[in-house]
Amino acid sequence: MLHRVLEQQLRAAVEAVLPDAAGAPLPVRPCLDLRFGDYQANGLMALAKERKTNPRQLASQVLEKLDAGAWCEKVEIAGAGFLNFRVKPSAMAAILAEAARGEHLFFRPARQPRTVVVDFSSPNVAKPMHVGHIRSTILGECLARTLRLLGQRVVTDNHIGDWGTQFGKLLVGWKECLDRTALEADAIGEMERLYRKINAECEADPARLEQARQELVRLQEGDAANLAIWREMIALSQHQFDAIYGRLGVRFDATLGESFYNPRLKGVVQSLEAAGLARESEGARVVFFDDIPALKNHPAIVQKSDGAANYATTDLATLTYRLETWKPDEIVYVTDGRQQLHFQQIFAIFRKWHPGAAVKLAHVWFGSILGEDGKPFKTRSGETIRLADLLDEAEERALKAVSEKNPELPEGQRREIARVVGLGAVKYADLLPNRQSDYVFSWDKMLALTGNTAPYLLYAYARIRSIFRKAQAGPDAAADAAPEILLQAPEEIALARHLLNFGLVLEAVAEEYRPNYLCNYLFELAGHFMRFFEGCPVLKSGEPQRSSRLALCDLTARVLRQGLDVLGLEVLEQM
Ligand code: ARG
Repeated sequence: MLHRVLEQQLRAAVEAVLPDAAGAPLPVRPCLDLRFGDYQANGLMALAKERKTNPRQLASQVLEKLDAGAWCEKVEIAGAGFLNFRVKPSAMAAILAEAARGEHLFFRPARQPRTVVVDFSSPNVAKPMHVGHIRSTILGECLARTLRLLGQRVVTDNHIGDWGTQFGKLLVGWKECLDRTALEADAIGEMERLYRKINAECEADPARLEQARQELVRLQEGDAANLAIWREMIALSQHQFDAIYGRLGVRFDATLGESFYNPRLKGVVQSLEAAGLARESEGARVVFFDDIPALKNHPAIVQKSDGAANYATTDLATLTYRLETWKPDEIVYVTDGRQQLHFQQIFAIFRKWHPGAAVKLAHVWFGSILGEDGKPFKTRSGETIRLADLLDEAEERALKAVSEKNPELPEGQRREIARVVGLGAVKYADLLPNRQSDYVFSWDKMLALTGNTAPYLLYAYARIRSIFRKAQAGPDAAADAAPEILLQAPEEIALARHLLNFGLVLEAVAEEYRPNYLCNYLFELAGHFMRFFEGCPVLKSGEPQRSSRLALCDLTARVLRQGLDVLGLEVLEQM
C-alpha cells in the first residue's frame, strides 16, 4: 500500500533524471532492519550499472527530484546506492484510516486479471487418499484462494487418476471376490483390499497377471460390463473424496480425470510425430531432448510399444485441452517432488510443440511428511495413513485439549471448537514449512497453544474479538465507524507498519507459490498485536485514543481472519 505510493514517487523522480528508464523495475520493499528505515529501494543500482554511472551519484540526483515529503520523514542514500525511506506515522495512519473505513484491506485486486489454472489434489480412484495427497490438497487450495483474493480468474481442476493399469487387477478382484457389505461400509477400503489381494496373486502367478491384463484390454476396448464396474468404482471413490473436500473446505471448478483425455491421446502422438518431435524407438514413440542437457539422458515415452499411451501423453493432452478451454495465462501443478522430472519433460515437449504459446507453466512441488522417527509417515503397523483417519484424530485430540481447558462449555460447542482447531492445526502445520523441505508430523507441536501454530493464531483472533464483546457491553458502546488513527506509542507504530505489508505478502505467496510467507506474517502480526495490547490500554483509555486503538484491534482481527481464510482456516469468536 504505502510501498505503492513510494514506488510511484520514486518512478516519477527516476524518469525526471533518466527519461529512458521508463518501465524499469523499481520495487520499494520493507526494510529488513528497521534501524535504517521502514522501506528500501535498490533498483537504482541496476540502472546505474546499465549506464555505467556511479550509483550513489545517480541516487543523489534522484533524491533531488523525489517528492516524498508528504509521506516520509526522511529518505537517505545508503551503502552502494540504495534508498532508505523513513515513513511518517501520519502517512501510515492515513492508509490505516482508509482500511478502517472499509476501502481496502491493505491489498488491491489486480487491475488486469490473469487466468490461472491450478491443478491440485488429483488422487487416484480406488485408492485411499493418503497423507501424500494432503499437501497437494492443502497447498493447492491455499494458492487458489490467494490468487482469487488478488483478483485473478482461477480455475481449479482435479486431475483424478481414473485410468490406468490398476483397473485390470481391480476388475478381476471385483468380479471374483467383492464383498458388497464391506463395499457399502467403506468403498475405498474394500477396493484397496481387492487391489492388494489380486496384486499379490499376480506377482506370484503369471496366469493371474495375464487375466488382469485381459480385463484391462477389455475395459480399454469399451466392454460394457467392465465399463459399468469401472464407473461404479469412480463414483464410489468420488463420493469419499468429496466427503474429505467438504471437511477441508476445498472446492474444484472442474474435475476432469485422466480418462476424460482418452479420445485425444492418439491425436497427441500423431501431432508430435508430425512435428518431428516423437520418433520410433524399439517399437515405442519417444521424444528425445538432445539439446537440453538436464534431460539428455531422460527421453520421454509418449506411446509404449504395445500402443498404449501413458501419464506423459495424458498430461500433454490435458495441457492443450486447458489452453483451448480456459485460455489460461498460467497453469500451476501441485504435486510431490518425485514428479519433477515428469513435469520438466512435459514442459520441454510443450515448448517445442507449441513454440508460440505464452502460457506460464509452473510445477509447484513439495517434500514428504515424515514420522517423528524421521522415516516416511506411516501407521504403527507400517501402513500408509489415510487422510480421513488423520482428520478424525486431529479433531479428537483437539477435543481432548478443549475439554480439559473448558470443561464447562456445552459439548456441541466444544466439538465445534475442536473441529476448527484440529483441522486448522493439520493445515497450518502443512503450510508453515518451506514446501520443498520434508517436515516431521507432530501432534504435540501443531496443537500447542504457544509458538507458530494454528491454535495460537486462532486464540489471538478470539482474544481480539473478546475485546469487542467487552467494548459493546461497556457504557460508551461501539467504537467510531470511521475513527481517526493516532500512531504514537512504538507498539502502535510497529503494529501499523506490519499491517500495511499484508498485500505485499499475499503477492509474494502468489508469485513464489509459498504460503509459508503468509504463515510467518500472521505469526508476527499476532506478536505485534500482543505487544501493543500489553503496552497500550485500549478500553480504559480516553477518546480519541480509545477509538483509534479499537480500530487497530479491528484491523488486526480482519487481517488475521482474511489471512487465515486464505490458508484455509476457519476462525472462532470464542475459544
Ligand atoms: N494422480 C497423480 C498422483 O497421484 C497426480 C496428478 C497430478 N496432475 C497432473 N496433471 N499430472 O500422483
